[in-house]
Order: sequence, then structure tokens, then C-alpha cells
Amino acid sequence: MNWGVRNKGMFLSDSLKVFSGSSNPALTAEVCKYLEIPLGGAQISKFPDGEKLVRVEDNVRGRDCFVVQSICEPVDENLVELLIYLDCLRRASARRITAVVPYFGYARQDRKDEGRVPITAKLVANLITTAGADRVLAIDLHAHQLQGFFDIPVDHLSGQLVLSKYFKDKKIHSLTVVAPDVGNIKLAAKYAGHLNGDLAIVHKRRVSGKEVVAEEIIGAVEGRNILMCDDIIATGGTICSAVNLVRKLGAAEIYVGATHGVLAGEAPEKLAQSPIEEIVVTDTIPLNDRAAKLSNIKVLTVSAMLGEAIKRIHRDESVSSLFNQSG
Ligand code: R5P
Repeated sequence: MNWGVRNKGMFLSDSLKVFSGSSNPALTAEVCKYLEIPLGGAQISKFPDGEKLVRVEDNVRGRDCFVVQSICEPVDENLVELLIYLDCLRRASARRITAVVPYFGYARQDRKDEGRVPITAKLVANLITTAGADRVLAIDLHAHQLQGFFDIPVDHLSGQLVLSKYFKDKKIHSLTVVAPDVGNIKLAAKYAGHLNGDLAIVHKRRVSGKEVVAEEIIGAVEGRNILMCDDIIATGGTICSAVNLVRKLGAAEIYVGATHGVLAGEAPEKLAQSPIEEIVVTDTIPLNDRAAKLSNIKVLTVSAMLGEAIKRIHRDESVSSLFNQSG
């Protein structure tokens, strides 16, 4: 009999509860598998007028509770459901509540870059805190400084750890890691460091929410195999435009790695028409039906990384020492 594993499971399932919102039940199930605990019991339903009801079925009094919910499509519904979940757990006397937000939507509106616009990233941070979260666990927030939008602790993980390992195992030779815009330079530098590749940066100009133009590149790509990395592929404009530019400049095989595959609107069709060998995303967001049909898409799971972070938070152990989120 393996007492070690049994003891570990008993200890965790007794005091730790992990619940799933509707956005990503498959990911939450994998997280619970990693932790060797059953999924927290809850019913999510709707009143006839469309209002949501979350009813937690387990006793959570004095327990350490985690709710996994990505703020992905349907964005507003998933956000409100997360808030209701947090409120429900708070009123049920949970000892500590962590909002586990693998994909934090509304994050890109993080400053006023013109008059009379909101800062939704701050608004959502306020809502999550007010609803009852004591902590947040997130993956690749659109900008690292979003951690400061919360006045509660935020553990910030990176999908790059999972993606880098995948690309390292592929042993791509003559590799240049390309940042598709200046905002991704740090991320690309991390990939380049892990994969021992060169670094190049595309200068992008955003024409509108849907249209971007990759204008020029700093660094050599001719004859090189490329890994184009980003935190998020939303409309696909940034990636496709950068891919077309490097191909025009003589790049060989082109791979794309991004944590969050939002793949909204015509993104799947755009990606299908781009000369990309393989598009690799993680399961922070479930692939939509059209994206799932792409023949060259691969989804890696972040479940073990999230599960390990949850275990460490629960045991008051260091998370940063494991995932090294510096920079
Ligand atoms: C930009 O700041 C981000 O890192 C992404 O490159 C961008 O949000 C991706 O959006 P889209 O796919 O719509 O170009």
C-alpha cells in the first residue's frame, strides 16, 4: 500500500476544494486529477429570465477554495458567473478563496490611450476582489503590471514554460525567435534563452482593432527556422502579418507559440492561409469549433502547472521558486 500518496490525497481533499466554472471544465478536471482530489460539487443553472444561479453542494466552511474560470467567450457571462461563484463561497464561510483565472479577459484595455474610454482591466480586478477573492492565480496576464491592479496577492504563471519545453523537444535547428511586436520582446528573449536561438523583433503598426501591419524587422530571418511567440492570438492579425513579413524576407519553417488561443472572428481562416508549420497554444481557453478544425494546431495543457501552483498555495509554499516569474 502506498501510504505516501494516500496520505497526500486525504490531506488535500479534506481541506482543499477546487470548483469549476462553465468556461473550461476539461482543464479543471485535469487539475483535480493532478491534485488527486474530486472536483468540488456545484450546480450552475439559469433562471427563466437568464440570470445565473451557482449552488455549491460541498461543505466549504473553513476550507481553502479555488474556482477555475477563464474570462473567455462568452466573456461577460463567464465573468459574471465567476463573480457569483466567489460571492457564493464567501457567504458559505470558505476560509480562503482563490480566483484561478487561466485567461484574464478584458485585460487589453489597461490604460486610457484616448479620451473617454474605460480601463476594464482595473474594473474587472475590482469586481473580482469585491466579490470575495482573497487571492488570484493567473497565467500570462496581458501585461505584468496588471498584478498591481489588485490589492490582493496575485500569483502569475507563464505558459511559456510549457511551450518552451515542447519546442525544445522538437530540436529545431537554426532557430530565430521572433517577437511579432515590441510588446513581446521580453517574452521572445525568454524563449530564445531557453531554446538557444537568435532573437528578432517586428515593428508593428495597429491600423484598427482588426487590422495590423508588420512594417519592418530588426534581426536576420533569411534561411532561418522561426518561432513566433505571443501571449495571445485574438484576431490573428498580429501573428499573420508578422509571419507574412518573415516569409517574404526568406524565412524557412515558421512555428507559432502562444499561451491563449482566443482565435476570434476570422482568426482560424487567416491562420489557415498563412505559411505556418505548426500553431501551438495552451488549454487556458477551449478551442472554438472552427479553430479545432485547423490541421496544424496543437494544444498543450497547463493543468499540471496550475495544479502544482494550487498545491503550493494551499500549503503556503513558494510558487515563484518553482516557476521563476522574474522579469
Ligand atoms: C499585443 O499587444 C498582444 O501581445 C497580441 O499580439 C495581440 O493582442 C494579438 O491580437 P490580434 O491577434 O488580434 O492581433
